[in-house]
Amino acid sequence: MNDSENITSNPRMATGTPSISDIVDARLSRRGLLGGLAAVSALTVTGCASGLRSRDTEAPAFTFAEIERGMDDTHHVPGGYRADVMLRWGDALFADSPAFDPKNQSEASQLRQFGYNNDYIGFVALPDAADGTKRGLLCVNHEYTTGRLMFPGIMQAYPESMTEDLCRIEMAAHGGTVVEISETTAGWQPVVGSRYNRRITAHATPMTLTGPAAGSPRLVTTEDPTGRTVAGTMNNCAGGITPWGTYLMAEENFNGNFLGDVPAGHPEAENHDRYGVPGRRYQWGRFVDRYDVGREPNEPNRFGWVVEVDPMDPASTPKKRTALGRYKHEGAETVVAPDGRVVIYMGDDQRFDYVYKFVTRDRLDPADRNANRDMLDHGTLYVARFDANGVIQWMPLIHGQGPLTAENGFASQADVLIETRRAADLLEATPMDRPEDVEPDPASGSVWVMLTNNHRRQADQVGPANPRAENRTGHIIEIKEPDGDFAATQSRWEILVRCGDPSDPSVGAVWNPLTSENGWFGSPDNCAVDPSGRLWVATDGNERTGAADGVWAMETTGERRGTGKAFFRAPIGAEVCGPKFAPDGRTLFVAVQHPGDGEDATFENPTTRWPDFQSDVPPRPSVMALKRADNAPIGT
Ligand code: FEO
Ligand code: CA
Ligand code: CA
Ligand code: CA
Repeated sequence: MNDSENITSNPRMATGTPSISDIVDARLSRRGLLGGLAAVSALTVTGCASGLRSRDTEAPAFTFAEIERGMDDTHHVPGGYRADVMLRWGDALFADSPAFDPKNQSEASQLRQFGYNNDYIGFVALPDAADGTKRGLLCVNHEYTTGRLMFPGIMQAYPESMTEDLCRIEMAAHGGTVVEISETTAGWQPVVGSRYNRRITAHATPMTLTGPAAGSPRLVTTEDPTGRTVAGTMNNCAGGITPWGTYLMAEENFNGNFLGDVPAGHPEAENHDRYGVPGRRYQWGRFVDRYDVGREPNEPNRFGWVVEVDPMDPASTPKKRTALGRYKHEGAETVVAPDGRVVIYMGDDQRFDYVYKFVTRDRLDPADRNANRDMLDHGTLYVARFDANGVIQWMPLIHGQGPLTAENGFASQADVLIETRRAADLLEATPMDRPEDVEPDPASGSVWVMLTNNHRRQADQVGPANPRAENRTGHIIEIKEPDGDFAATQSRWEILVRCGDPSDPSVGAVWNPLTSENGWFGSPDNCAVDPSGRLWVATDGNERTGAADGVWAMETTGERRGTGKAFFRAPIGAEVCGPKFAPDGRTLFVAVQHPGDGEDATFENPTTRWPDFQSDVPPRPSVMALKRADNAPIGT
C-alpha cells in the first residue's frame, strides 16, 4: 500500500521509552555486530559442508544494461527486454464480464472483473497445452481501493460522496483473483472464461475460520454466532504459494476498514488499540453494520489472518488459518525444512512490529496433495528476537509458556493468536522498521527480510538490527538458517544493505561501493528469488528519493555482494508489487500498484493515465509480464 498510511501502535515504543531488550541491544551493538559477522562466516563454511550454495559460490552475473533513475508517466525496461501489460483493473475474467466503463461502474460489474491495486502475484503451473503452449494460474491479491482515483467527482463532497453503491464497488475490488493465463505468440494473455477463473472479495466470498482460534467467543458476531464463518477477505497484501499448490492471501491493513467506537469499557478496546482499530480510512461502516465497531465490536478479530485458497477448485471455501497468528500480515512465503516440515515466513508491516515464522507440526506429503490439506492448522508460531551477537532467537507463542498465561489475559491459545501482537510484546520480540516481504531461498538457506522504513525511530531506540534513527529508506536483513534448517529456533542474521542515497552522508546508507548511481534505492517492499537463486527487490517509496519505484537486481554473493542494479521502473505514483518469476525464469510478472497517485491526485487529475493514456480513462493498476526479446531467462 501507499506507505504514508502506516501507523504506530506498539506501546513498547512510545517515544523516548525504549524497552529492556532495546537497551540491551544498544549497549551491545558496538562490539556485538562484529561478532555476528564472524559467526555468520563460520556458518557459511558449515553451509558448504552440507551442500548448500554459499555466498562464496558466485551466482551468475546480471547481464542486462542498467536503466536510469528517473520518474515519468510510463514504465521502463532495459534494451532487449519487452514489458507487456497483461491484466488491468476492470479487465474481463469471465465470458459474461462487462467491458470496463469507468464512468458507469457497478458492484455487479466489478465482481466479474479484475480487482483494484494488484499486489501479491503467485504462479501455479498447469500442464502445457497439446501444442506446447505454456499455461498457469495467476493468483493476484487486490490490496486496497482509492475512491478519489477510481470514481469521478469524489473529492467535491468527501466523505458524503462515498455512497453505498461506491462502497460496495470497493468491497468487490478488494480480495483476489485466480485467472488462467497462457503464453501465446503475442505474449502471456488471460484465458477469459477459463473454468479456474475466480474473484474473491471482501463481502461475497464466504470463508471458514480454522485452527485454534476458530469458534472463540471473541470471533462471534450477529451474523456468525459460531465464530467460524466470515463473508470475505480484504486488504490482501503479499502472500505465498504452498508446496501443495494453494494460494495464501495475507490480510494486512484491515484496521482502516472500520468506523465507529467500541462501547465504553468493552473488553476488546485495548486489543483494538494495539491494531489501530478503527482506522477510519473507508466509509463502509456507514452502510454495513459489521464495519462499525460500535455495532459489531468483535468483527475486527475476524480479519488480520492468512487465508488459504485452493486455486484448482473455484468452488472451494477459502480458509482463514488462525494458527499463523493475527496481525498486519504482509506476506506468507513458504519453504520445506530438511525434515519435511513446512515453514512460512511472515512480517507484520507496521512501525516497530515484528518478524514471525510458522513451523508445521506435520511433514509434507509430496505424493498426496490432499494429505496436506489442513497442514496449516497445526504447528508453532514463533516471533524473532534479533540479538546483538548476530543470533536470532525464535520465541514460540504457546499458551501457558512464559508470560502467555491467564494472569496476563490469555485464557487459551485462541487468545494468544487473536492478540498475537500483545503476546509478542510480552516475549520482548525485536521491534523492526516495518517488516514487509520475508523470502526464503531454499537452495542457500538464506531468508531475505525487507524492512521498508520507519522515520519514527528515535536515536535512543536504535539497535543493531534497526541501526538508523529516522530510517526513511529502509534496509535488508539476511537470515541464515543453520545448515538450511528453516525450522531451526536459532538462526544468524546480518544486514545486507542500508538503503538510500549513498552519496548523502546524512542518509547513512551502506551499499557495496561497486553500486552505480542508478543501482541504489529506498524502501524495499516485495522481493523474489529467481531460479538461479538471485534476489530481486521491488520498492514502495523510492519516489521520496526523487525517482520512481521499480525492481532492482541484488548481488548477494561474492565481491559484488550488496550491489543493486536497476531493472524496471514504474510509472509515476506507483509502487511495484509481485514480483514473481515463472518457473523457467523466462518471465518476471510484476504488479504496478496505484499508478497515477500523488498528493491531490484524482480520477480527473491523476499524475499519469498509464497504461491506457486515454483522456477519459483513469490510471489502471496492472500486472505486467517482463521478458527478454530472445526469450532467454531474465537477467542472464
Ligand atoms: Fe501492503 Fe506492507 O504493504
Ligand atoms: Ca507491501
Ligand atoms: Ca515475495
Ligand atoms: Ca509498502
